[in-house]
Amino acid sequence: MGTPQRVLAPWAVLLLALQLAGASHVIHRSLEAEAAPPSVPASIVNSLLRTGYHFQPPMNWINDPNAPMYYKGWYHLFYQYNPKGAVWGNIVWAHSVSRDLINWIALEPAIYPSIPSDQYGCWSGSATLLGNGTPAITYTGISRSDINYQVQNIAFPKNASDPLLREWVKPPELNPIAVPEAGINATQFRDPTTAWFAGRHWRMLVGGVRGTRGLAFVYRSRDFMKWTRAKHPLHSAMTGMWECPDFFPVSGAGAENGLDTSEHGVKYVLKNSLDLTRYDYYTVGSYNRSNDQYVPDDPAGDYRRLRYDYGNFYASKTFYDPAKRRRVLLGWANESDSVPDDKAKGWAGIQAIPRKIWLDPSGKQLLQWPVEEVEKLRGKPVSVGGKVVKPGEHFEVTGLATAYQADVEASFEVSSLDKAEPFDPAYDNDAQKLCGIKGADVRGGVGPFGLWVLASGDLQEKTAVFFRVFKDGYGKPKVLMCTDPTKSSLSPDLYKPTFAGFVDTDISSGKISLRSLIDRSVVESFGAGGKTCILSRVYPSIAFGTGAHLYVFNNGEADVKVSHLTAWDMKKPLMNGA
Ligand code: FRU
Repeated sequence: MGTPQRVLAPWAVLLLALQLAGASHVIHRSLEAEAAPPSVPASIVNSLLRTGYHFQPPMNWINDPNAPMYYKGWYHLFYQYNPKGAVWGNIVWAHSVSRDLINWIALEPAIYPSIPSDQYGCWSGSATLLGNGTPAITYTGISRSDINYQVQNIAFPKNASDPLLREWVKPPELNPIAVPEAGINATQFRDPTTAWFAGRHWRMLVGGVRGTRGLAFVYRSRDFMKWTRAKHPLHSAMTGMWECPDFFPVSGAGAENGLDTSEHGVKYVLKNSLDLTRYDYYTVGSYNRSNDQYVPDDPAGDYRRLRYDYGNFYASKTFYDPAKRRRVLLGWANESDSVPDDKAKGWAGIQAIPRKIWLDPSGKQLLQWPVEEVEKLRGKPVSVGGKVVKPGEHFEVTGLATAYQADVEASFEVSSLDKAEPFDPAYDNDAQKLCGIKGADVRGGVGPFGLWVLASGDLQEKTAVFFRVFKDGYGKPKVLMCTDPTKSSLSPDLYKPTFAGFVDTDISSGKISLRSLIDRSVVESFGAGGKTCILSRVYPSIAFGTGAHLYVFNNGEADVKVSHLTAWDMKKPLMNGA
């Protein structure tokens, strides 16, 4: 195991901790200095395309967030990390801490191959706070060199009074705590969840597959040390392998407070990351504590309908934040450039902005919103109000210091839904395909309308984030939200998929809102107050730095009013010493 480069020395950690605790203003650097206007189209190996306020280490490959938790005043984030390069491999758990989920300090890796049952890799896992408040980490270890043979391991803090939880021990007498018994596919058996306590036992889930049926094995323990597999999985569905399961209670419909994973929920959420599609799907349902069975409310909903994010967002995990009584979601966003470019850049992968999640008033889905702490990065606001955008027109939102690193909140009002295009039921399950056919430049009835972000002044390059309203056979409006990056860059070798989801919102009043977090090579958008979210990675070749602009456009036949729009340039937080 190599050592990650540029982790901080202990004295630097302390210094930065002091900064974080007290003088947060000193950590914001001047962005203008590094954002010289582009003169010639740039390659994507460009520091102005390295995200500014999304989580990332100074260099190298990252994937899944692991074991997020709040402990003694600090948020902890561990993550899958390759200390040796910008491609997946040599996986250890890198470790960062934060006071606010936005400013991060890198520590030494916390979990790395050191025992027989993890000697070929330390894969994803979770943290659980035990009854006495001490955390435990459970994670997947790779124990054979010939195949990715997977077992589950446990680790405890070496010194639980250290709020930074820098060192972890893996008791040899306990590890591994679970092995793939006969009948379990040993190469598809991983990613233990946060455990919850019910009755007299702790329970945790481990993802797996049987044939083509994805499933979440249930393990039970009285003492958190010795674990036994229950006969029946918590749930299963014909989806292929379930990676990174997550299971948690939610309070009542519309209630924003989160619950500790062991608390009793009015409803429960089961999320799985489907290896086959590389998306995170969830259902809302009921959980029976006496037999450890979970039943989704919507029988047809099993992992094909609801996604946390309809874009580039995978292997996510939530945790309960007792400091703000909320449940927070973290998810990994991969690059969409080429592997040679990742190697040339020296880095790959970011984490999405942490999102608060709670049950929608309808009880049918979750709502998500960037944690409020991200607003601390906002600079001077620029506002537009009551401006009507006629069919085929657009206008620029001017006055932003950094349109390439910004937060935009907009409320739209369509004049009438009469011109909404008929909805072909064949697209009911395939928003993405629909958006691929009806992209931002395809004229519509009501919409497409929304934002062009990371756009060049001549509009040669732009990423469109927009809505398009259809009408179903009963005349009921159906809202599609899309991110269309097909014109986002002139650079070759980029994966530029349109991403889309339907928005289950009442648009009969004509009103709908959109928020976009723009950060150099990521656009993370929240439709209708967080009902539908889409994260996209884009790499403009001319619309970067001060060459990036922000516009509102309307490519439909109905007028669209921008009731309010406020945009802020975003400062750079402390980001792991980068
Ligand atoms: C998901 C995943 C997990 C695994 C880890 C390995 O991205 O494949 O299932 O534990 O990444 O890095």
